[in-house]
Amino acid sequence: MRAKNNTLVLLSGCALVLLAACKGPATGTGDGKDTLAAKAVTENLNPKNFEAVINGKNTKLYTLTNKSGASVSITNYGGRVVSLMVPDKAGKLVDVVLGYNSVQTYQKKGEPYFGAIIGRYGNRIAKGKFTVGGKTYQADVNDGFNTLHGGRKGFFGQVFDAEQSGQTLNLTYTSPDGEGGYPGKLTVKVTYTLTDDNALKIDYTANTDKETIVNLTNHAYFNLNGAGDSTILNNTLKITADGFIPVDTTLIPTGKIQPVKGTPFDFTTAKAIGKDIGTTDEQLKNGKGYDHNFVLNKNDGSNPIAIANSPVTGITMEVYTVEPGLQFYSGNFLTGATHDGKGGKAYVLRSAFCLETQYFPDSPNQPAFPSTVLKPGQTYHTSSTYKFLNK
Ligand code: BGC
Repeated sequence: MRAKNNTLVLLSGCALVLLAACKGPATGTGDGKDTLAAKAVTENLNPKNFEAVINGKNTKLYTLTNKSGASVSITNYGGRVVSLMVPDKAGKLVDVVLGYNSVQTYQKKGEPYFGAIIGRYGNRIAKGKFTVGGKTYQADVNDGFNTLHGGRKGFFGQVFDAEQSGQTLNLTYTSPDGEGGYPGKLTVKVTYTLTDDNALKIDYTANTDKETIVNLTNHAYFNLNGAGDSTILNNTLKITADGFIPVDTTLIPTGKIQPVKGTPFDFTTAKAIGKDIGTTDEQLKNGKGYDHNFVLNKNDGSNPIAIANSPVTGITMEVYTVEPGLQFYSGNFLTGATHDGKGGKAYVLRSAFCLETQYFPDSPNQPAFPSTVLKPGQTYHTSSTYKFLNK
């Protein structure tokens, strides 16, 4: 009730601001007016719907807001990005990620990992089997015969300890030895930072007490037209990758790296996601669209490895990482029939895309791929940034 009232107050406040000055500069005035708009939308989420006790731990919704009023809301349940409000070409804040209104919906069966921290191993491991430190292990199988995104005990369903400090949220989780079938007690820290230039930076670190495998990522689903819009096929995408990893019909890599040149997988110059998605192509058939790891050209993290844009909102997203791979998934398993999204919106086929920075799928079983082994005494560290522009 209270939240509803607050929403009304904030919305009518925004209406006044809209009349007076909401048309201010695209990136906001920094005088608090756009912050008001961001709060109004976040308020629609109702933080109370994220307060629960799961696995014996408290869950909550945390909102980081920057000087220009952009904001990101994250729950410590699975470390999930629930909403990400960034300015469009007119300066209006648009939510660009798919998500749910309540923490309970995130727990439902068939939930497609919206916005989650993915671990211990992002993407697939063939039959869930791998050998590390001279021993063979069996991870939980949750995707046909394979393990996907860590398996049933993946981080998407774990409750992180959370500590917010201004525009930064620190999330920590200790995964016990053997959880999900993986060896070693793994201590993970994920830090989300919303910078004043509208970038969401995600830092990951992990340590183990036994030789193990690690591949962490984030599973945000983006639609730069705005979450709930029916398609991403008109969003353009550029990926600086001269090669990609072909897969079999269960989406396990064949072990080869194929040049993108002359294939529908050539995103080296920007094109609409929908441009070639309907082409008759064995790999597009296996993935039911794009669901492939792109082998990123060598880069030092200072230039974007992917750039997406919406011709509708003018929002551009740049992705930065030093990870070797990028899983580009075009939302081929979204059906609209699963659970209602924020604001009661149905998320239909190809109404979002994911750009998951990571090591290559099934690396533990692919000797030619870079290693994902982490040993005691070593620190796993990686960082990825999603930066938003509106020009
Ligand atoms: C995978 C898809 C999978 C999706 C889960 C993506 O990272 O590549 O195959 O269906 O996650 O919803």
